[in-house]
Amino acid sequence: MENNILKNRIQKIRKELLKQSKGAVLLLSSKPEIINTRDLTFDYKQDTNFYYFTGSHIKNTLVLIKANEDEPLVLSPHQSKEEILWLGANESPKNLAKKIGGKFIECDLKEESVFKYLKGADTLFYSSYEYSLSNKIAKKLLKENTSTLERYKLPYKLINQDFLIAPLRQIKEASEIENIKKAVNITLNSIKELENILRPGLTELQIKNFLENEFKKQGALIAFDTIVASGKNAATLHHTCSNKVLQKGEMLLLDLGAEYNMYAADISRTLPVSGAFSPLQEELVKGVKKAQNAAIKKAKSGITYGDFQKAADLEIIKLLKELGILKGTEKQILEKNLHREYFPHSIGHSLGLDTHDTGRLFKDTVLKKNMVITCEPGIYFSKKIKNIMPLGIRIEDDILIGDKESKVIG
Ligand code: GLY
Ligand code: MN
Ligand code: MN
Repeated sequence: MENNILKNRIQKIRKELLKQSKGAVLLLSSKPEIINTRDLTFDYKQDTNFYYFTGSHIKNTLVLIKANEDEPLVLSPHQSKEEILWLGANESPKNLAKKIGGKFIECDLKEESVFKYLKGADTLFYSSYEYSLSNKIAKKLLKENTSTLERYKLPYKLINQDFLIAPLRQIKEASEIENIKKAVNITLNSIKELENILRPGLTELQIKNFLENEFKKQGALIAFDTIVASGKNAATLHHTCSNKVLQKGEMLLLDLGAEYNMYAADISRTLPVSGAFSPLQEELVKGVKKAQNAAIKKAKSGITYGDFQKAADLEIIKLLKELGILKGTEKQILEKNLHREYFPHSIGHSLGLDTHDTGRLFKDTVLKKNMVITCEPGIYFSKKIKNIMPLGIRIEDDILIGDKESKVIG
């Protein structure tokens, strides 16, 4: 990533810090490795707030950005010969400091050592990630039994750093949009490849492996655990992939995303296992697609997330009324939220470095130009109702908010 992009982000966040207080600081930590079994770890993904300001995959490092100081501090310990032998040389913290216009300081990262660099600060923006050093430091400051001497001149106002960073991360820069677009296209290509081989007799797990392998062939990683749910399994929103064999006449719900250059795609499709939908399946899928189209049409800068949701809700309500499942006027159903039984999740979320990206969308959140959000209406029947067997349908695309309209990415 270009150094200027990083420096620019750091200066922008310093301005936000200054609005809080001259003594406000932001403490970013690299993600700790998480143990899977014994001494083996899960695949590593850098803390996304840390990555946003550093473009770095370095481990075991803190970056401290202060409202009243131009240069961020990069705190990182000395790496022993043995660590280098087993784990490799950490990306150089000195280079990182240079890249972001900061200052490198060798530090053992013990809490009391880090406190030295927090002296004089009154407000600390810490990481909400429980296992991060930034979070541990905040917890230590909160502990009642931290002695007065230890607390002296240390931050007393502690705020989750997402409040500070999310508004910035929510508005995507051109290079971020390019990365998301690439992730989306890799995901869509993989689904196309699957359509060529999809048939009854395959298992959910075989499909998951096929799709994830397609991501990897295109140089991408997996943004989140791929959901492959056939028949009634699709009524479980986040179904865990099983060995279930796909049956003739069933539908298959896929919810998947490639990760490209750290950025995620998040796409859902509902496909006919045998190549063609039954008339009833087609009616349902078309109804959900209509809800998606209505929401996409509504979405643009200045519209609230609540209105975006409502556009989809109204179409799902129409469908449920046509099927004879819900009775009453659209207004009554909407007010009582009766359709939620069949469309129990929200219409979308922010997308970016995280699949569920920072910056939660509330009913009154106003959409802004260059936000990237998902649009994912669905309909789910966990029990047979009328002539509909248990099933789930979700259609999800990723959209870029513009001044006059939103555009589907990909
Ligand atoms: N893949 C999870 C979601 O769509 O939010
Ligand atoms: Mn999804
Ligand atoms: Mn999603």
